[in-house]
Amino acid sequence: MKWRVRGRRLVVVGSSVSLLVAAVLILAAGPEAVKAADSGEVLVAGSVCEAHELRARAEQDPHLQIEIPGAYASPWPTREACLSHAAAGDPDAPGPLQPIQFSHKHHAGLYEIDCQYCHTGTDRSPSAGVPSVQLCMGCHQQFVPAYDELEGIRTLKDHWERKAPIEWEQVHRLPEYVQFQHRAHVQAGFECQDCHGPVEEMDKLYLTPDTKWWPWLLPTQKLEMGWCVQCHRENGATQDCLACHY
Ligand code: HEC
Ligand code: HEC
Ligand code: HEC
Ligand code: HEC
Ligand code: HEC
Repeated sequence: MKWRVRGRRLVVVGSSVSLLVAAVLILAAGPEAVKAADSGEVLVAGSVCEAHELRARAEQDPHLQIEIPGAYASPWPTREACLSHAAAGDPDAPGPLQPIQFSHKHHAGLYEIDCQYCHTGTDRSPSAGVPSVQLCMGCHQQFVPAYDELEGIRTLKDHWERKAPIEWEQVHRLPEYVQFQHRAHVQAGFECQDCHGPVEEMDKLYLTPDTKWWPWLLPTQKLEMGWCVQCHRENGATQDCLACHY
């Protein structure tokens, strides 16, 4: 599969985040782990993700004594998956908390999975634009059981077994009386990012601010009428009320 071949890129990205990892670990481990390090105690990993963090810390601090029990010595899930999973589930990051800690940065960024592979039918129906559980499982069914350590993977598999759809929180939603079709806009040459921001850099998805200032200094926010109309004006597209409102 395509994404497996991309393993080498993973390593490059991995080293650039290792400092961040160390910082996150120190914060997450708290004073106890710091004390343990001082007194020469051994820090023992309790999961594959913790093992990744401990190794990253030991690399920064050679005096640190760590122990990785055999059960947690697996390379899977990767450190990037652990980090993306945690960042996608961060309640303090912008955007709604989703039922699964799914990261666009990991799937669309690192693994370069095409937006349209998952978002085939971006249209009006409330969930048509979001991929099915089956599509997710097309990849995740082949993953080694060690991935079950991640809560998001367990939730995904649970939905698959129960044949239940995932109830994703909607991020973008226009009122019912507005007519918007993706097709015309994508065909006109706009990138997804023109309207949705740098999605491939987001672990947790949110509505990116895009405040437009009109000549008389009135702000309009994304998804407001002025946001649509201003772009239509700049591009010679329709300003007919009935194009957007029946
Ligand atoms: C084309 C293959 C593919 C598809 C389709 C796919 N995934 Fe993934 N997923 C991956 C890979 C590869 C990883 C990262 C594995 C690693 O680095 O350890 C991953 C990681 C994850 C993780 C760990 C956190 C994260 O995002 O990195 C979750 C949760 C996840 N996927 C859920 C989903 C869900 C839900 C769907 C469907 C909406 C889905 N995946 C569709 C390949 C896929
Ligand atoms: C592996 C599947 C997958 C890929 C690839 C993917 N997405 Fe998504 N996308 C999802 C899932 C699942 C959700 C719902 C959960 C969430 O919001 O994070 C979503 C949500 C969204 C939303 C918000 C929908 C709403 O409720 O308003 C936007 C916008 C979006 N994706 C854009 C993109 C863009 C742009 C790309 C390419 C850069 C992309 N996606 C690639 C699976 C994917
Ligand atoms: C011209 C701006 C624009 C472009 C370009 C655009 N979108 Fe959207 N997108 C929107 C708006 C506006 C909504 C809200 C639609 C609604 O509520 O009816 C939306 C909603 C979505 C949703 C939520 C589910 C849905 O279908 O309503 C997804 C997923 C999404 N977009 C993905 C994408 C992807 C992937 C691309 C690139 C192929 C893309 N968008 C390009 C403006 C845009
Ligand atoms: C980034 C610029 C941009 C934004 C933002 C934008 N549009 Fe458009 N839209 C266009 C362009 C350009 C066309 C003309 C496409 C063509 O004629 O091929 C168009 C065409 C349309 C059409 C006529 C084609 C069709 O689908 O029937 C409608 C309706 C429409 N837009 C609605 C909206 C609404 C509603 C919003 C805001 C939620 C919006 N657009 C935001 C650029 C934009
Ligand atoms: C390019 C698309 C577009 C065109 C053209 C357009 N509208 Fe809108 N209109 C919108 C969107 C999107 C909203 C929803 C704004 C929001 O939710 O904040 C809206 C909202 C409205 C509302 C409700 C405002 C409110 O605060 O509740 C009215 C009334 C309205 N439009 C009238 C018009 C009239 C009259 C015209 C023609 C002069 C027009 N619209 C042309 C996209 C458009």
